[in-house]
Amino acid sequence: MKDYPKIRKLMERGNGMLGSQCAILGGAMTWISESNLVSAMSNAGMFGILASGAMNADALGSEIALTQEKTKNNFGVNIILLNPQLQNLVDVCGERKVSHVILAGGIPDKGIIDRIHSYGMQALSFAPALSIAQRLFKHGIDALILEGNEAGGHVGPLSTMVLIQNVLLNMTGYPIFVAGGLLRGEMIAALLQLGAIGCQLGTVFACCSESIAHRAFKQALLRASGRTAVTPVQLDKRFPITPVRAIENNGTDGFIAKQREILSKFESGEMALDNGRLSLEHFWAGSLRRAVLDGDVEHGSLMAGQIVEVIKEERSVTAIVETILAEAEAFLEHSSPKDGDYRKNGSIL
Ligand SMILES: Cc1cc2nc3c(=O)[nH]c(=O)nc-3n(C[C@H](O)[C@H](O)[C@H](O)COP(=O)(O)O)c2cc1C
Repeated sequence: MKDYPKIRKLMERGNGMLGSQCAILGGAMTWISESNLVSAMSNAGMFGILASGAMNADALGSEIALTQEKTKNNFGVNIILLNPQLQNLVDVCGERKVSHVILAGGIPDKGIIDRIHSYGMQALSFAPALSIAQRLFKHGIDALILEGNEAGGHVGPLSTMVLIQNVLLNMTGYPIFVAGGLLRGEMIAALLQLGAIGCQLGTVFACCSESIAHRAFKQALLRASGRTAVTPVQLDKRFPITPVRAIENNGTDGFIAKQREILSKFESGEMALDNGRLSLEHFWAGSLRRAVLDGDVEHGSLMAGQIVEVIKEERSVTAIVETILAEAEAFLEHSSPKDGDYRKNGSIL
């Protein structure tokens, strides 16, 4: 990695916490963030994160061991709070001396944060609002990731821009990473100037050379425009859906048809409410795997963020990181006010 002194200075705190050279988290992506990609990220100086998805403790233990064979650098493990083996998964991370656990898919309670700490690991999680961010820090979370609705995969309701103003700017000094819709180094540098300690990127790494995603999956993302990366419409409040941002295809169309079918069966008395909800939840099961590993880009789930608008070629992890750092450095060289007070000079954003 070349030396970029200005951005390195802004990343000092994030790097100190992660043990990395570049405070960029490689956002965990189920089926994609496995040992090859994660070790490539950590070897490139950033911080890779393994996705445990629906894995059990044994499978996660093997994937961690495989990643540790490929990199000596720190990497994290992303655990979905709904996983029935949650505690066992945390224990496996602790036993295998993982440095950081990232809790996703809900708001973690103090018990699970304490369990992570009992192994000497650091705990990170997501916060969709200011009050939740404040509560999580009170419960001992080591850092938060603010992820806006532009991101790929499961998303919350608010955009990155709103979360920055509501959470980041109101929690000066707290360790916060920003995610959702990021790629350019200039943008990342500006967020660090506003107080973020680093950023998390996902979609761009789904399409990189080290990603094991099927060629057809990568091509579909590289060809897509941002406006086709959508969250599905919910047809009826009684049947709530989990918003997942993905590229439109037959699968997303089929989901609307499925909701219509369930609604009509429910209204005619043919199907109970709970069965209808369950059947909706099961609709997407396995469909990310189908797109990522089998290359079924027509019916599988093409999870991706709006940033596909800007991602146009497959590049290596190192090339992506170097470009971000060079863009950030150039931006800082031309925009950093000498006294460091961006408000007085009014140059940012
Ligand atoms: C294909 C795909 C799968 C994802 N799977 C997960 C996951 O398993 N756990 C998680 O916390 N986030 C998941 N995410 C979100 C990413 O970790 C990351 O936060 C997000 O992609 C960042 O926004 P961006 O896509 O705009 O870069 C996924 C994203 C994508 C695109």
